[in-house]
Amino acid sequence: MALHMAVEVVRDSSHSLTSQIQEFIKREIAQGILHPGTRLPSSRRLADDLDVSRSVVVEAYGQLVAEGYLEALQGAGTRVVRHLGGEQPVVPALLEEPGRGGPREGAAHPVRWDLRPSGGNLPAFPRREWLGCYQRVLHRAGPAEHDYPSLAGEADLRLELARCLGRLRGVRTSPAQLMVVAGFAQTLGLMCAVLPVIGIDALAVEDPGHPGQRQFVRESGLRAVPVPVDAEGIDVAALAASGARAVLVTPGHQFPTGVTLSARRREALARWARDVDGWIIEDDYDGGLWYEHGPRPLALQRTDPERVVYAGTASKSLAPGLRLGWLAAPAPMLDLLLRARARQDLGTETLTQLAFAELLRTGLFDRHLRRLNSLGRSRREALEEAVRRHLPGAAVLGRGAGLHAYLQLPRGTDEAALVARAGRRRVLVRGAAPFHAGPGRSAPALVVGHAHLPRTGVAEAVRELAAAARR
Ligand SMILES: Cc1ncc(COP(=O)(O)O)c(C=O)c1O
Repeated sequence: MALHMAVEVVRDSSHSLTSQIQEFIKREIAQGILHPGTRLPSSRRLADDLDVSRSVVVEAYGQLVAEGYLEALQGAGTRVVRHLGGEQPVVPALLEEPGRGGPREGAAHPVRWDLRPSGGNLPAFPRREWLGCYQRVLHRAGPAEHDYPSLAGEADLRLELARCLGRLRGVRTSPAQLMVVAGFAQTLGLMCAVLPVIGIDALAVEDPGHPGQRQFVRESGLRAVPVPVDAEGIDVAALAASGARAVLVTPGHQFPTGVTLSARRREALARWARDVDGWIIEDDYDGGLWYEHGPRPLALQRTDPERVVYAGTASKSLAPGLRLGWLAAPAPMLDLLLRARARQDLGTETLTQLAFAELLRTGLFDRHLRRLNSLGRSRREALEEAVRRHLPGAAVLGRGAGLHAYLQLPRGTDEAALVARAGRRRVLVRGAAPFHAGPGRSAPALVVGHAHLPRTGVAEAVRELAAAARR
């Protein structure tokens, strides 16, 4: 491996070249510029780059090895030692979120079950298929694919998305009305930038809802107006009474309660948007994941594509690390969103977009969804069964969909104490409290993420929760 390194030496100095190289490397290590474990160039390469004799570098490296700064690897060059002076490597602890309780990852006792809702079903990521698609698009890529991307997204992907969203979610859109974004987070960011431009300074959010999104809306300078959710989804009468003219909803599988917006409420919501000349942001975050018999309710967007900005993401179906999402918006809104985006970034990475387009085009994405749904159905059944057996009085609410479930606890359960006791048993779980905007809610509950658990793991994790509940 031909490595290079920037080393400053002064030729007419009173210090020898060897000692200058030595001191320079020591300083860079001390200042954390050369990191533990960094491979250094061979003495021959560095000597060539610095235009000095090789013996100068050999001597400098040798001295640094003797002093414990560098280590010589058998047949594999030289590197900065991994642990200097007995220092331990820094293992970043998993940040605890408010209301999370329980031990941290990296603590003395490893976590047994992590039931916090986050991320996708990462063990099921279709590695082979993704690699195949990526390789094909990389092989075909010419200069255009390595140039700056189109701000709206690659035409191939927008075409495949329009087809797939129409087919799977009943979204009424066309490639020209779609934008490829960095996950739902970017859609929300763009909407928060655009709403004030059209005279809207408040965004209604579901209560309970995603605490991070609520905070994001507030920090964007908009008022986040919590609107209650019941068994039919968002309470549209309460929304109308709030005076807000824009709302963020999860109608397909409400986050976190898991209910779907009833047909009656869908109509009422579309009517509300027309009446107030307002906007609906539809966060269809787990759109392809449905475990019940019979079809999943189609996207709300189809009821009024002129007033709904539909948003999807690959975070639940593939992986959040891809930072890949999409939005469908009517032309005037899309134009505003594109302008806002031009101030944020210069588009989404091209090859990832094209690989995803290939996954869609070849039917591999549908096959992957079928697999995810079969795994998800099995986990959901295991969860319901384990709750019936081990947690009498508790109930799994909401629809069989997505990667989390809302577990209503028996009345009188101290939710926070249960979360803390589960933590002491090395089971990380989130109570429902942090998802609520205010204190006035009815029943204690847990929001259980089950994406990455094997079927047997679900039962065991619930048994642990039950043991924590008994104490
Ligand atoms: C309600 C909700 N919306 C959207 C997302 C996905 O966001 P992103 O696409 O930015 O990863 C999540 C992920 O956890 C979520 O819980």
